[in-house]
Amino acid sequence: MADSIVDAIRRGAAELCDFVVDTRRDIHAHPELGNQETRTPRLIVDALSGLDLEIRQGVGGTGVMATLRGTRSGPTLALRADMDALPLQEDDPRPYRSCVPGVMHACGHDGHVAMLLGAAHLLHRLREQVNGNIKFLFQPAEETYGGASEMIADGCLSNEPKVDAVFGLHLEPDGDVGELRLRSGPTMASSDVVRIAVQGVGGHASEPHACVDPVPIAAQIITNLQTMVTRRFDARSPVVVTITYLQAGSAFNVIPPEVILAGTVRTVDPKVRAHVPQCITDVAEHTAGAFGAKAEVVYLHGSGVVVNDSAFTQFVTDTITRHRGSAAVRQIAAPIMGAEDFGLYLEQVPGTFAFLGARPSHQKAYPCHHPRFDIDETALPVGVEILTTVALEYLRDGNRQG
Ligand code: NI
Repeated sequence: MADSIVDAIRRGAAELCDFVVDTRRDIHAHPELGNQETRTPRLIVDALSGLDLEIRQGVGGTGVMATLRGTRSGPTLALRADMDALPLQEDDPRPYRSCVPGVMHACGHDGHVAMLLGAAHLLHRLREQVNGNIKFLFQPAEETYGGASEMIADGCLSNEPKVDAVFGLHLEPDGDVGELRLRSGPTMASSDVVRIAVQGVGGHASEPHACVDPVPIAAQIITNLQTMVTRRFDARSPVVVTITYLQAGSAFNVIPPEVILAGTVRTVDPKVRAHVPQCITDVAEHTAGAFGAKAEVVYLHGSGVVVNDSAFTQFVTDTITRHRGSAAVRQIAAPIMGAEDFGLYLEQVPGTFAFLGARPSHQKAYPCHHPRFDIDETALPVGVEILTTVALEYLRDGNRQG
């Protein structure tokens, strides 16, 4: 890429900094929960008005898709930002704090939308350099897991121009500001929900022999599930089963007829994930059966493993190393056990989901989903630069990458 374009990207990102920061603060002050986004999509459409983009609203529910068609033909890259907030009370006195009680942008999605809007403006400015098309995907409901699947079902990847690759950024509150972290292959875990009903026979607490007490059986199931993790699954591919919910009786002298357990299951290999429901069912049903009780397992598949394409990840690594230096890019050693529905896009087209460091300098780094979560906003123009650079370089090299 010519030096003049590299300069134009950096200069453009710097010029857009105030717009991006103001936009992030505006969205931060007005957070909306998944599938209830109305103001945020309007803000997005307003922010893109005046640009020569094809805009579709109501994509997959409340999503927005904007398509930039380049001046020459070529492949199509999708850039994605999620836009929903969390059901969480913000604990921060900042002037642009959430004005919606019990709702907060505590995962940086306000910044994701702002960076993607900045990139849309910058790529529109540089559209003479775009050999192909760029689809900007503003996705609802990432935290509730419906958003990506609804956007995909609504044709965001398959509708003309058909998407060839996808790229997304997530702000990271404990990474060096502006540092891009990524890895090839499994990057984030699948996240499923399991619910187990242990059915016994209730009665007087002094006569357990006349009952089928589901409480110790439920306790056995919880510990047997941990044995299952270490004895039935290869230690080289992590499985996490965490029972977080246990609901039993309501009195100290009554054996309840039923205990309900529920929790989360995380894996980083789709093949391992496929094996988990039957194993849990075996443990629950047979443990219960051994004591004359019954267990009913309901397994709900949530978001899948985020698997980054190795060629595209290498391309992003090389591109950003060339543009920003080798200190600005770091490989992640092992997958993160957190989850993201970006994996659904990656099941359809190759691409990469990467993390952008944004550790705040004014306070300690609180993790995502914390009531004091914050970012260093100087990371935002870096995100604009990275999104723009990846898009322009991919579309320039697209036929080679394709
Ligand atoms: Ni998030």
